Formats: sequence, C-alpha cells, structure tokens
Amino acid sequence: MVGGNPVSASALLRKLARKYKKTAPNFARAIVDVLRAGPVRAATPTVATSQPLDSETRLPLIREEHPVVLVNEPILDGAVESVLRQIVDEHRSRQRLLEAGLAPTRTALLVGAPGVGKTLAARWIARELDLPLLVLDLSSVMSSFLGRTGVNVRRVLDYARSVPAVLLLDELDAVAKRRDDTTEIGELKRLVTVLLQEIDSWPDGALLLAATNHADLLDPAVWRRFDIVLDFPMPDHRAMEAGVKAFLDEPEADGDVVALIARLYDGENLSRLERDVFRARRAATMSGTSSVDALVNMAKDRFARLPTSVRGPAAARLLETTDLSQRAVHELTGVSRDTLRKYSASTSGGTDAK
Ligand SMILES: Nc1ncnc2c1ncn2[C@@H]1O[C@H](COP(=O)(O)OP(=O)(O)OP(=O)(O)O)[C@@H](O)[C@H]1O
Ligand SMILES: [Mg+2]
Repeated sequence: MVGGNPVSASALLRKLARKYKKTAPNFARAIVDVLRAGPVRAATPTVATSQPLDSETRLPLIREEHPVVLVNEPILDGAVESVLRQIVDEHRSRQRLLEAGLAPTRTALLVGAPGVGKTLAARWIARELDLPLLVLDLSSVMSSFLGRTGVNVRRVLDYARSVPAVLLLDELDAVAKRRDDTTEIGELKRLVTVLLQEIDSWPDGALLLAATNHADLLDPAVWRRFDIVLDFPMPDHRAMEAGVKAFLDEPEADGDVVALIARLYDGENLSRLERDVFRARRAATMSGTSSVDALVNMAKDRFARLPTSVRGPAAARLLETTDLSQRAVHELTGVSRDTLRKYSASTSGGTDAK
C-alpha cells in the first residue's frame, strides 16, 4: 500500500481506476472497491520514534512524508524547472561534485505568490531523490508554540540533519510577519539568529528548502544566505493549458476549448484552476454531462465575477488571442461589444471587428 500521505494515495488510486476503466475493467473495479472500503492509510506509521516533539504539548513539530506520491507532475516555467532539475542532479551526482572539491546545493529559497507550486516543487524534489520530506510549517509553529519557537526550530533542524531527508521550512515569511509585535521582538530575534546559524552551518550533502510568499518581508540577512533564491512566476498561458489538460485527465480534449478555458483563467494560479476542474468533473459525473462543458460554464461564472476593470481588458485579450468573434467573446464574458472595442483599441491601436 502506498504509505506516507493518505490523501495523495487515494487520489492516485482514483486516477488509476479511471485510467484502467476501459482497458482492464476488473482491475479498475478492484481499485474502486479498495477506495470504497475506507480511507487509504499508510501501512506502517511513518513517524520515526525520535521525531521532534514540542517539549510541553508533546505534539509533533514536523510533518513527514515518505514516500512522496504526486498525483500530477508540477507544471513549471522552463527556467524554474531547470534549476529544480539541477538541484536534483547535483544531489544524485554528489560524489562527482565532491571529487571536484564542490558540494551540491545545500539551501534554496522558493519564492512566489500563493498556489503557484512551491510546496509541490519541494515534494517533487524529495520524490525525485527518493528521500522523506520533512515539513516544518513556521506559521503553525509560531502560533502554537510561541515562546518556545527558537528551541523548537533548533530541535527540528537537529533532527533533520541527523536523517537522510529533504527539509522544507514552509511559510518562512511567518517569521517576518510577527516583527511588528513588540512583545515578541526578543523571541523573533532569537529565532532569526537560530535560522541564520542553521542555514550557514547546514551540512554538505543535505538539502534545506524554504518557501515564502514574500521574500521582501524577510530579513535580507536571512534570504541572502540561501545558495539559490528561485522565483516562481504566475503560470503563463501555456502552463494554464497544460494544467487544464492534466487536471481534466482528458488527453483527447479539444485543443481550442482547452485554450479557451486557459484564457478564461488568465491571471489565476494553478491551485485555483485545479480546484475548479475537480469541481466541474464531480458535477459532470453526477449529472452525466461533459466535464469540459461544466468547466467552461464554471470559467464563465468566474469571469463574470471579476471586477469590471479587470474583466474588460481580459475579454479584449481573449478577442486578440483566440479566433473567437466579438459576438462570441461577448457571449462568453458578458462584456459589451462597445467595451470590447474600447479596450481592443487602447491595447492594439485599433482592432477591426471580426
Ligand atoms: N505549478 C504547478 N503545477 C501543478 N500543480 C500545481 C502547480 N501549482 C499549484 N498546483 C496545484 O495546487 C496545489 C497547491 O500548490 P502548492 O501548495 O504547491 O502552492 P504554494 O506555492 O506552496 O502556495 P502557498 O504559498 O499558498 O503555500 C498543488 O498541490 C497542486 O495540486
Ligand atoms: Mg506552500
């Protein structure tokens, strides 16, 4: 049985059941039976006995995932992907680097807006290296164990150094966000000091990742210490299209429709797209209709709720980047043809009605 993360184990089984529904129906049915029998649990507890606990509450300080199972592969900007791949390759070929007097990347800071795939990227790295992922969520550690955060963080980092694993310090900006609260200044200073020491002394061969939404909120002394600072951009159109295809799980879906849906999600993150696609798939399954139609309707609804100042230019972009007529764009987006003309004229110096 797939261990580690029951949520992704079930999702993976669901995907397999769907994949083999036509070619191996008995196998698919057996998987569905397993899923129906109850939540899929890890066969053995994955919590190591020496896992760090809070000294007073005895609650675990970290979440451990092993093996890491991904339902979908990350869809990433080419530059981001090649840096992540290099990190993995370096750790796989550690020996070669060491012989050349070098060490693989020890620390990397993943920066980007919510829902762009930072945590997913960290999970991907751990999976590629076949190592457990240890996640310390600083926002929850800071809120629940305030007063002992420095000690707790050190305890986690000591543990993470002692086992072969990838460590992720998630929501690192939680440390910075509390800086305004004067009662906690001393505590935070200690915590920043602990982090600086730990990042500096992180051993060769081990990998410490951290993720944040706001690199600018962090003390520059902290982020400057990372070997790599990697910016995750918002998904572009190609990434959105790949997301629509991957989440719909319909490789045969019509290219024009996929492109249209991707355009209607312009400016959104993949996390939001994924949620909507799965909602559409559930709705379509319940009503026996097409997931693609359900998704187009959902995308239209989302579009209709955008603020007018965003909707107008986005509809004009739709007109410029697809083969849709002005009338079709109007019907899809609810933006009037006059408004469409106005925005098209202001962005492209005048577009003739198609
Ligand atoms: N680039 C991506 N490729 C594929 N799926 C993605 C991507 N980005 C987000 N997702 C989907 O959205 C979910 C949430 O993404 P993730 O937790 O990695 O975002 P994050 O950048 O860590 O956000 P936050 O800053 O809120 O923690 C993922 O589990 C995945 O299902
Ligand atoms: Mg995250």
